[in-house]
Amino acid sequence: MANKPSKPIMLFDCKTSQEIIGQENFLNAFKTILNHGGYAQGPETRELDEKLAAYSGTKFCATCGSGTDALTLALMAWDVKPGDAVFVSSFTFVASAEAPVLLGATPVFVDSDPNTYNMDPKDLERAINEVKKEGKLNLKAVIAVDIFGSPCDYDSIIKLAHDNGMKVLSDACQSYGSVYKGKKAGSIADMSATSFYPTKPLACYGDGGATFTNSSDENELLKSCRVHGMSATDHYDNVRLGMTGRMNTFQAAVILQKMKVFDQELKDRFRVASRYDNELSSYFNKQQILDNCQSAYALYTINCDDRDELMAYLKDNGIPCGAYYPRPVHTQTAYAKWSTRSLPVCEKLSKTVLSIPMTPYLDNEDLDYVINTMNDFAAKKMNKAA
Ligand SMILES: Cc1ncc(COP(=O)(O)O)c(C=O)c1O
Repeated sequence: MANKPSKPIMLFDCKTSQEIIGQENFLNAFKTILNHGGYAQGPETRELDEKLAAYSGTKFCATCGSGTDALTLALMAWDVKPGDAVFVSSFTFVASAEAPVLLGATPVFVDSDPNTYNMDPKDLERAINEVKKEGKLNLKAVIAVDIFGSPCDYDSIIKLAHDNGMKVLSDACQSYGSVYKGKKAGSIADMSATSFYPTKPLACYGDGGATFTNSSDENELLKSCRVHGMSATDHYDNVRLGMTGRMNTFQAAVILQKMKVFDQELKDRFRVASRYDNELSSYFNKQQILDNCQSAYALYTINCDDRDELMAYLKDNGIPCGAYYPRPVHTQTAYAKWSTRSLPVCEKLSKTVLSIPMTPYLDNEDLDYVINTMNDFAAKKMNKAA
């Protein structure tokens, strides 16, 4: 058994990058904002729009207040409304389904692939056919969530959606920095939304988000809806419904600093993931990443039948871990009325998945300890079964 490291092992690490970038760089950026006074959607947010669009390889990026705002703004730009069906995975953070519901649309929950944990295109096809057969809802959009940072099967999802007259919104809230067949998150679907919540791969120190599109019309709508539906020419004429969805300028300044180390941090996330991939016992089923794709590894997640026992064992040994997500969205109180379909895979996943420490700053001592402790658990289980 490897020795327990003297420093605590982190599940997420929102702070160490400050030491690498230098706290004084953050403080100087904050001072600039204190002096210019553009505290909401100030010049740093516009600089960030440009940097993120260039990073993702999209024509436009519009920063906003959170990932939830980004998803909602994208659906607003597509005029999602009551009577519309929006297809979404149930095995996700609640906000993926909350966005269509806030606009009065009907979420149609789709089951997951047992290996990738992402939306199962075969079940999406079944769900589309069911809604068509019932004939009550207008087929509007699919929200494809890249769970834990790993890209969905976009080729299949986009084809199914487009064949049925729908658009695809990529919920890249966990996957900024991931790559799908050569395309970076943000540039894969018809529109994309991301989050900069502190535990995300590219993160701020509070709430932040962004939308991505190649359409200047859509980008104008997103920018209008972000500020209460304001007209582009007359700021006192609101020409559509919108929201307070602006980005706080201080958060933009944080993300601009964090972008300096983002590629290195992604490389370090891959380093951690590849040690887990290669060295964790086959007793654990590891989340499968599609061929020619790269996860951003917001989380590293495995599944096994005795998940609760493993979680207790790791915690007893000082290893933080978390069950994301213990309840699929369709089983949660506020969403139960839309639980109209059988979703056995995501219900099973919610009982078997476990996310283990994943930060760019785990060193070999930390990883030796996590891997040895997990393999020790697996060996005891396998010996018992033999
Ligand atoms: C998949 C997914 N979608 C949407 C969101 C919402 O992002 P935010 O918390 O920035 O509103 C999150 C955040 O955790 C998420 O993980």
